[in-house]
Amino acid sequence: MQPEFWHQRWQRGEIGWHLAEINVHLQEHWSLLSVGAGDRVLVPLCGKTLDLLWLAGQGHHVLGVELSPIAVEALFGDSGLTPEVIEEPPFRRYRLDEIEVLCGDFFDLDPAHLGQVAAVYDRASLIALPPELRPRYVEHLVGLIRPETRCLLITLEYDQAQMAGPPFAVREAEVRSLFGGRYDIRRLAGLDVLAENPSLRSRGLTSLLEQVYALHPRGQVP
Ligand SMILES: C[S@@+](CC[C@H](N)C(=O)[O-])C[C@H]1O[C@@H](n2cnc3c(N)ncnc32)[C@H](O)[C@@H]1O
Repeated sequence: MQPEFWHQRWQRGEIGWHLAEINVHLQEHWSLLSVGAGDRVLVPLCGKTLDLLWLAGQGHHVLGVELSPIAVEALFGDSGLTPEVIEEPPFRRYRLDEIEVLCGDFFDLDPAHLGQVAAVYDRASLIALPPELRPRYVEHLVGLIRPETRCLLITLEYDQAQMAGPPFAVREAEVRSLFGGRYDIRRLAGLDVLAENPSLRSRGLTSLLEQVYALHPRGQVP
């Protein structure tokens, strides 16, 4: 998936993944990660998700990363918020209180952009990427965070032969293959969400499973 693909999706308003409410799994399971108030939370490929605001409401310092300036400006503008904007090539940093969003390419990030990240929240980010890019995404992510960083990961599973991604199907076996070397992986929920996704059903899906995982560094499961 080239950056241009995502820029066009935002220009055309084709953002079917965006939720008008806070993600229910985030609200239900976040406490399992034991992230402290004041800790930094990384949200890669964040779009304009309202989950950033919820995480900031938990007292975290939230750092989103998003390619599209349309998304980042809507994230703040839709809530009537005006962030400070700082040019940091190749990124533009938007900052308002406890929320920062780096507008640019996730793969251009280095650890100095982020500071010490205590936790990662990935909803619809890993699954936005085609199979050949996913190992690179995970390798880059792991290189940005500390060994003790925890993750909440939300994926979709369906028969990839029924529909071309994105979103892509990422099965549990692949999650374990991508993250299992470093993390203990606990599946927290698996829900049939086909009825809630009529646009994906109309693209040919006959089943759709949403999976929620907690990833704790090996030996640090509470
Ligand atoms: C499927 S959306 C998910 C957005 C968000 N996680 C959510 O739950 O609403 C994927 C987002 O990743 C962004 N994106 C794709 N590739 C990216 C990259 N290399 N760097 C930063 N953002 C990227 C896209 O612009 C898009 O907003």
